[in-house]
Amino acid sequence: MSIIDGNAIAQQILLEVKSRVAAIAPIVPHVAFVRVGDDPASVSYVSKKQKTAAEAGMKSSLRLFAHDVSKEELFAHLDTLNADASVHGILVQAPLPGHLSETEIFNRISRNKDVDGFTTSSLGQLAQELPGTFAPCTPAGILELLKRSGVKTAGAHAVVIGRSLIVGKPVALLLSARGTDATVTVCHSRTPNLARFTREADILVAAIGKPRLVTADMVKPGAVIIDVGINRIPDAAKKTGCRLVGDVDFDNVAPKASLITPVPGGVGPMTVAMLMKNTLAACERAAGMPAQSREPATAPTPFKA
Ligand code: GUN
Repeated sequence: MSIIDGNAIAQQILLEVKSRVAAIAPIVPHVAFVRVGDDPASVSYVSKKQKTAAEAGMKSSLRLFAHDVSKEELFAHLDTLNADASVHGILVQAPLPGHLSETEIFNRISRNKDVDGFTTSSLGQLAQELPGTFAPCTPAGILELLKRSGVKTAGAHAVVIGRSLIVGKPVALLLSARGTDATVTVCHSRTPNLARFTREADILVAAIGKPRLVTADMVKPGAVIIDVGINRIPDAAKKTGCRLVGDVDFDNVAPKASLITPVPGGVGPMTVAMLMKNTLAACERAAGMPAQSREPATAPTPFKA
């Protein structure tokens, strides 16, 4: 069994990004963050993304809104960012408060600045296997982890647990896309007898947000395990009173797996690295350079704004 070191692979990607950022000077890629309310996880994720942008030589900005912000106020801000030529990427951190429709807010982001890949247009392009938009960062990071760890996807049976728009659905699309060629089964919270499916997985992606749901008896010997879960569970031994665990029972599953991602230090750093890569690519494209982010799955078609 080997552990996939997400920190090391993300670092490699960030080095590649950094050298491309240096090459387009004096233009500086700029990602604009929008955060609503004070959800502690969102505060920590956005702060990590801003720190990483600075390390990669990129600019970031952050606009905070109160929990009860109206859709119209958010739209007005997004319209300003869309119109600002110095902004290359826009990210509205999810989750949003219940009175706002995430899809409606995401869809206000200009297609060419959608570095998160959550707009209807970007997800449609992904489903159609067309280039010119960005794949969501966590799914794109998972594919990059598999590729850089030498995992053969063609002909493999990939089982995805979770059907969210942020991870489950797009990762299933990417895994089954032409050129990646996995056979994909999508399971979710209403799937009866989950283990019946997970035991068949050559590649198992757990993205359902249930601490240590995947146990050793649910895993095929030699499987590749990708754990997307970030769950905080109580731990009296920790200063903060809690610790992070994934959706996989790591200690018991790891000995059975051929490759496995840890939590933390697996998929998490890849999400951030792919956001930087997408923002850089959006900037390069705005500067008239050829797109490099998502390789064309089929014949390349020119990007149209
Ligand atoms: N919340 C959790 N993951 C993500 C992400 O990748 N992008 C955004 N915008 N919100 C998130």
